Amino acid sequence: MVQPTLPASWYTSATMARRERDTIFARNWALFGPEHEVARPGTWAARTVNGWPVVVLKDRAGNLRAFHNHCRHRAAALLPDGVGSCPARLVCPYHGWTYELDGTLALAPRFGEDLDKDAMALRPVRVATWRGCLFVAIDPAVPSLHSWLGSLPSLAEPWPETTAFTYRGDFTVEGHSNWKTYCDNTLEGYHLSFIHERLAQSLDARAVTIRSYDDHRLVVFHVTYRGDGASLRGGDGIWFWRYPGFQGVLGATGFKAEKIEPTGPSGLRSVSWAWYDPAMSEDDIADNFAWARTIVEEDLAICESVQRNLEARSFEEGVLSPVMECHTAAFQDLVRRDVGEEP
Ligand code: FES
Ligand SMILES: [Fe+2]
Repeated sequence: MVQPTLPASWYTSATMARRERDTIFARNWALFGPEHEVARPGTWAARTVNGWPVVVLKDRAGNLRAFHNHCRHRAAALLPDGVGSCPARLVCPYHGWTYELDGTLALAPRFGEDLDKDAMALRPVRVATWRGCLFVAIDPAVPSLHSWLGSLPSLAEPWPETTAFTYRGDFTVEGHSNWKTYCDNTLEGYHLSFIHERLAQSLDARAVTIRSYDDHRLVVFHVTYRGDGASLRGGDGIWFWRYPGFQGVLGATGFKAEKIEPTGPSGLRSVSWAWYDPAMSEDDIADNFAWARTIVEEDLAICESVQRNLEARSFEEGVLSPVMECHTAAFQDLVRRDVGEEP
């Protein structure tokens, strides 16, 4: 059955963006970054995730912890965005409030005895790891990361763990697109040969199957590469997407993890981290890393063209192919359900 798309207004409205933040992004795990950033006690990584500034650190006892990156006094950021290591405690740069690495408030200069320090600890955020990646969740009621990942760990099992690969680096691509425009695109192979010339050539098109799992929250492209693609990307592999904003590419020769996050009703940031088989040549790794960025840029460019027309108010609603866009349709139903509009 041909299904109508979400209305264009859902891709441009600030009210909808706020509703999605509360009902979707707060209630799901989000990819934060690579686990090696906080390998040793005292190391930290700070960045904004879906609009929430968050710091992840390893405390002195070696426990992984995450906090909202705000001081309980008057909300200054405790740490600048980036990575680093701290001395024994975290000191707010504004008025010197000092916190232990477990989040407890140790010192509030000039507040005397009136302040209940126990009530002013840093506000915790959930943190957990999978395959060398850190994930955070804002809502304390979110189920464990393992149950949230659902079928993904067992589907990923045939391929090497991230520890078998060497970390190459990250790249960020930002653009003028609603996050749903990007996910609508990610979930269909319809555009592949039009938008991604090199990727389409590297695939054995007859060996691409797209399946959804876990009530459509996980969509996996099972792919087989051919020719040059096989030597670069290694035979069979999977591309996966986990609602709402975690996707990745996994195969015998590497792993790429990508965070998709809204930066406003019509803004999107994609951050990718990549690991490769150390047996690959430096040239092949450099080529693959650059190619991965090109693929994101190709997707974002067409999404920006769509977004511009969604904002022009000349286009109200499109249609989805029951053959080629059923996973996009299922994603849009998840959004409708989560924001409170039953499909
Ligand atoms: S805001 Fe941190 S000490 Fe004042
Ligand atoms: Fe694409």
